Amino acid sequence: MEDERPWPQAGRERMIIPAPVGRIGTGAAEIEHAMLARMDDDHVFMMGDNPALPRMPERPKLVDFFRHRFGDITIRHLTTSAKRALDEGMDEKVVMACLLHDISNGCFVRADHGYWGAQMIAPYVSEEIAWAVKYHQPLRYFADESVGYEYPDSYRKFFGPDYVPPDYIQRDAAEARSHRWYMTSRLVTLYDLYFFDDVSAFDPEIFTDIIGRHFKEPAEGLGFDGSPVAHMWRTMIWPNNFL
Ligand SMILES: [Fe+2]
Ligand SMILES: [Fe+2]
Repeated sequence: MEDERPWPQAGRERMIIPAPVGRIGTGAAEIEHAMLARMDDDHVFMMGDNPALPRMPERPKLVDFFRHRFGDITIRHLTTSAKRALDEGMDEKVVMACLLHDISNGCFVRADHGYWGAQMIAPYVSEEIAWAVKYHQPLRYFADESVGYEYPDSYRKFFGPDYVPPDYIQRDAAEARSHRWYMTSRLVTLYDLYFFDDVSAFDPEIFTDIIGRHFKEPAEGLGFDGSPVAHMWRTMIWPNNFL
């Protein structure tokens, strides 16, 4: 069905300033001064739906973020991890944690993605699933031979062979290891493999039943339920908002 909603700020150029957290330190030009100088009757700063992005429904569900916001690599990675866990007969909470574990990388923040991701989903999943998502980040750096998990080769390539994770990662990994939910998070790291090149993404629809059982979709839609993390989902809906 054709979406009849008009685009906001019609008839003017809608300027976008990239989020500082994605620009600072990258060498990308600082354009804020120049943009501010262009403001006039025909130039405004973007607020609301950006026609360059697929339009989100008014009450977005989890799957809408997979479809319309997450990048290709994240979609492949999350759906493949979850599918593997499912095919190997893992508990549904592990499958769900796999499906969500890198959700922050999809269209939000990469740095400390496990911690951000856990917060984003906390109101909608069990405490154990959010916990597993948070701690998969530190646990990734530490092998566990009991389940055949080794330090990732990809990390040697990403960060260099001499990379040493900072104290907070070491501390949190040690804390996770003695926690009763350790294995839930550890299994996420076990299925957290990089095999983007030779796999196609699975349609997130195949997880509809599992999502239904383990992710409480708010009636108002993600971003509009007044939860303590609603603003994070809104930021993904309108990532180009000026304020
Ligand atoms: Fe991750
Ligand atoms: Fe991952």
